[in-house]
Amino acid sequence: MEIDKKQQPIIIGSDHAAFQLKEKIRIFIESLGIKVDDVGAFSELSANYVDYAKKVAGAVSRGEFSRGILLCGTGLGMSISANRFANVRAALCSDILSAKMSRMHNDSNILVLGGRLIGDVLAFELIKTWIDTPFEGGRHLERIKSIETILKS
Ligand code: RB5
Repeated sequence: MEIDKKQQPIIIGSDHAAFQLKEKIRIFIESLGIKVDDVGAFSELSANYVDYAKKVAGAVSRGEFSRGILLCGTGLGMSISANRFANVRAALCSDILSAKMSRMHNDSNILVLGGRLIGDVLAFELIKTWIDTPFEGGRHLERIKSIETILKS
């Protein structure tokens, strides 16, 4: 079951500030045998991160993709924007343990990275860890379900 999930395509997006890292990440994920849907940005021309957060988080929210990756300069604008969407659990990570725990306890479905803060090698390790780590379920399932009640309150 989790093996299938690992093979599912990943939707990725960034603003101009993380364009270079996104390009490298796309190639890295494809080298793992996983398909990538890249929604842009496609250059370093100044862009609004919200536009790309909407594309990626919207697709994950609607269930069109089970996982996404978003990048901006710090990752902050992307994580703030993505977490406005129902059923999106976007985790801004810059260390391996957080990437792992965001999967195990929070079932994060979007990994957010700060392109101006981390290098390629750390980004690849974070992504690999995030892809490989399954959700633990159990007591954490009710907790993540209850996150959705916040939107209705
Ligand atoms: C762009 O200059 C920068 O503000 C953006 O990439 C991001 O860091 C916002 O949170």
